[in-house]
Amino acid sequence: MPRRASLRGQLLLWLLVPLGILWPVGGTVAYFVAKGFASSAYDRFLLDSTRALAAQVKDAGPTVRLDLPPVAMDILRYDKLDRVYFQVRRGDGEVLAGDRGFPLPPVKPRFSDGPIFYNSRLHGAAVRVAALYLPSAHHPAAGRVLVQMAETRVKRDQLTREILTGVVLPQLLFILLAAFFVWHGVGRGLRPLKQVQDAIAHRSHRDLSPVIEEGAPEEVRPLMHAINDLMQRLGNALAAQQRFIADAAHQLRTPLAGLKTQTEFALRQTDMENIQHALRQLTTGAERSIRLANQLLALARAEPEAARSGSRQPLDLAELARQVAADWVPEALKKDIDLGFEGPGEPRPVYGDPFLLREALGNLLDNAVRYTPHGGKVTVRVFGQKHPELAVEDNGPGIPEAERESVFERFYRVLGNGSDGSGLGLAIVREIVLAHGAEIRLGDASGERGTAVFIRFQRYREG
Ligand SMILES: Nc1ncnc2c1ncn2[C@@H]1O[C@H](COP(=O)(O)OP(=O)(O)OP(=O)(O)O)[C@@H](O)[C@H]1O
Ligand SMILES: [Mg+2]
Repeated sequence: MPRRASLRGQLLLWLLVPLGILWPVGGTVAYFVAKGFASSAYDRFLLDSTRALAAQVKDAGPTVRLDLPPVAMDILRYDKLDRVYFQVRRGDGEVLAGDRGFPLPPVKPRFSDGPIFYNSRLHGAAVRVAALYLPSAHHPAAGRVLVQMAETRVKRDQLTREILTGVVLPQLLFILLAAFFVWHGVGRGLRPLKQVQDAIAHRSHRDLSPVIEEGAPEEVRPLMHAINDLMQRLGNALAAQQRFIADAAHQLRTPLAGLKTQTEFALRQTDMENIQHALRQLTTGAERSIRLANQLLALARAEPEAARSGSRQPLDLAELARQVAADWVPEALKKDIDLGFEGPGEPRPVYGDPFLLREALGNLLDNAVRYTPHGGKVTVRVFGQKHPELAVEDNGPGIPEAERESVFERFYRVLGNGSDGSGLGLAIVREIVLAHGAEIRLGDASGERGTAVFIRFQRYREG
């Protein structure tokens, strides 16, 4: 089952997934930057203390010594948060003052003329160390004096944490705010759609007037336009259907009224012969009504919607045409009409509904036999290779050029053709042809007069 995609959900997803990835990346970068800041800030203080300590190293006399009263030492060591260690060490390794167990800087004295900072461990704790090699003018043999101060990392870690939270938390807040605004914004943006929905939901099923496009967002206009377009076509179709029902009712009323009159007439008769005559007329009238009802049914069945769900199957057009033509021979003989069939002698496959195709060809033959005078000629032909074609030709009076469009309309009849009918035959044929995706056209028969109706089918495809 396809998931129902919500615009809101999609937008949030597109926003939150990248931000969700970027946020920890940004956090990591912020962590290192914060650590760098914290480190350089406290390194300066540590260096100041180291310099102060170094200033007390006296290298003037016969030995190097540290001139630092205990109070000053306490001041140097004082720190609220961290433990502070120091060491003054001669180049030959002798510790002059301070804590033992100090590490050595990663830089050798001969390469160093500035302060050195490094991370190490002292008495089991991680420490930051500032180291200074003092110049030793008087005792070069003893090497340079090394002054080091170390402090645990509590302050630094704390500052790093503070900077980090100061950066990362607001970012998280921004992300949440952005998500909220997207959520809210989409809701607002879609509000006009809701109005359209309400407008459509509250209207009656008869109201096919267009939905008002004004105020709708640019993006949904095409959709509304399409809906309006559909409404209009639906309206046209409904109107056509209503016209058709009205016409059909009108057409049915005439023969039914005739039946009633004839029945009343028959009832008034006492003479057997008159009764017989009236009843014969009654039968003719009833047959006409039945034919009309059947035509209406055929029309309904040929409607594209109905025909689509009907039974389409591969069939041989040549064989179907031959059979229907054979069925019509007796009718043609009554008028002494020569009804013939010309086929290709091999199957012409088309994809269609055999019932509807018989109906269509039957209507064409009905017209040909009906409108062709006594002793005329009617031919059913099947030809064409890729696009099989069916033609019904006669040498009757023909259909005037000006009428060739109109004869396909429902209930349209050419005046003065001297035969009765309801004008539905060709309309039915056209519906069936359209439902099959085929084409119909009227042409001149091969003789000098007469009618030819051609139906051109689509190329046959397997399946
Ligand atoms: N083969 C033909 N020769 C001459 N005129 C024709 C022929 N076929 C159709 N027409 C003309 O076209 C008109 C429309 O034909 P259509 O079959 O739709 O209706 P109809 O034959 O009059 O009535 P229905 O078929 O419903 O009984 C007819 O009235 C007739 O005048
Ligand atoms: Mg007809």
